[in-house]
Amino acid sequence: MAARSFMRLWSRFGARSGTRWFGAAAPAAGTATRFGSKLLLGAVGASAFAYAAHKYATEDGVISTAYAAGKPEAQNSVFSQGKQHAVYVWIHLKPGADVKKCAHVAANIQRIVDHVVPPKESDDDEEIWAGVGFGPNFYHRAYGRSAPEDYGYIERKGTNGDMPATGGDIFLHAKSNSVGNLFHLTKKFMNAFPEDSVDKFDDVYSFTYRFGRDLTGFIDGTENPAAEDDRQAVAVDDHGGSYVITQRWIHQFDVIKKASVDRQEAWIGRNKSDSTELRNKLKSSHVARIVGGTEFARPKPFQIVRQSMPFGSLSGDAGLFFIGYAASPKNFNYMLDRMVGADVDGIADGVMMMTKCVSGTYWYFPSKNDLKKLA
Ligand code: HEM
Repeated sequence: MAARSFMRLWSRFGARSGTRWFGAAAPAAGTATRFGSKLLLGAVGASAFAYAAHKYATEDGVISTAYAAGKPEAQNSVFSQGKQHAVYVWIHLKPGADVKKCAHVAANIQRIVDHVVPPKESDDDEEIWAGVGFGPNFYHRAYGRSAPEDYGYIERKGTNGDMPATGGDIFLHAKSNSVGNLFHLTKKFMNAFPEDSVDKFDDVYSFTYRFGRDLTGFIDGTENPAAEDDRQAVAVDDHGGSYVITQRWIHQFDVIKKASVDRQEAWIGRNKSDSTELRNKLKSSHVARIVGGTEFARPKPFQIVRQSMPFGSLSGDAGLFFIGYAASPKNFNYMLDRMVGADVDGIADGVMMMTKCVSGTYWYFPSKNDLKKLA
């Protein structure tokens, strides 16, 4: 039943708008051949995913091989598809922490993953795809040089809300259909740091909601790059590394409840039921802020690979853990400046009426090879 209604939803907006599904919060449909040339259909068990999974598998066989020769390999979290759960671990080290030893822990993430789920026992439901990134200061101290591009994250203030800069040293992003495996991984990862080196950390466990909807009720990920080659081209730089934005957003459910659906759609610039793009968008709509204008199907000046997912509880805070990967931090800067209205037109983003940003920073996820240098 659930699969059938999803199929209806998918075919409705997919056929009408030509937009791509399998975005930020959609669970894995098919996986890249770099993780083995298999189809990942068991993950959700929904027949609705079969079409896209097959498509990726046939296309990817060729594309992945072509990339393997060209670019150093990116870490496993960077452009792989989503799973049903993810964990986001945001670590602040103490000023006196031993950088070399802490970098060593991060660089051995795949070993910890293999310990939690031994490769022989790994299947679609159990497997974990993980990657680690570093804040600019930690990166410089660990490698003795800067990342290819400067990726400082500045605090931004706007009329619909602010985006605080909360810093951080090490970040872990891991995806799996088993949230238990992600908890176990986080525990082992955090225990591996030398005693007295971690000042504070935050581990957020996320989930998919109603076939890829954000907790506001809007479908999230419609315009996300979907095919493996597109995701890789957008997310990975020439060195096999990737810049990452993370922000924690707490949704204002009382505001959302009181606003009409028309008003909410005006804030986003898309239809709430099936994500069709509005032809008459406000300049302040989220879509118009992000793509740089109100025209229908406007070409995108910048793209990112979003892997954001809902998190939280009704008795506490709940919202979106926003995470995006890109080959340059400029892509994020353009979008964030326009969201707060810091560019020339000074207009703030409607989505910020529904949700408040409470933390944020940028990271650099080095290539697998560069990460190994710290091990
Ligand atoms: C809680 C905060 C946010 C919510 C609830 C949210 C929600 C949405 C929704 C519903 C869409 C339309 C469907 C889609 O294409 O996915 C969208 C599009 C998009 N959002 Fe967000 N978003 C949030 C924050 C952000 C941030 C911080 C960025 C950038 C740094 C961003 C970047 C994008 C991009 C690139 C698109 C696609 C635009 C297009 O090409 O049409 N979003 N978002």
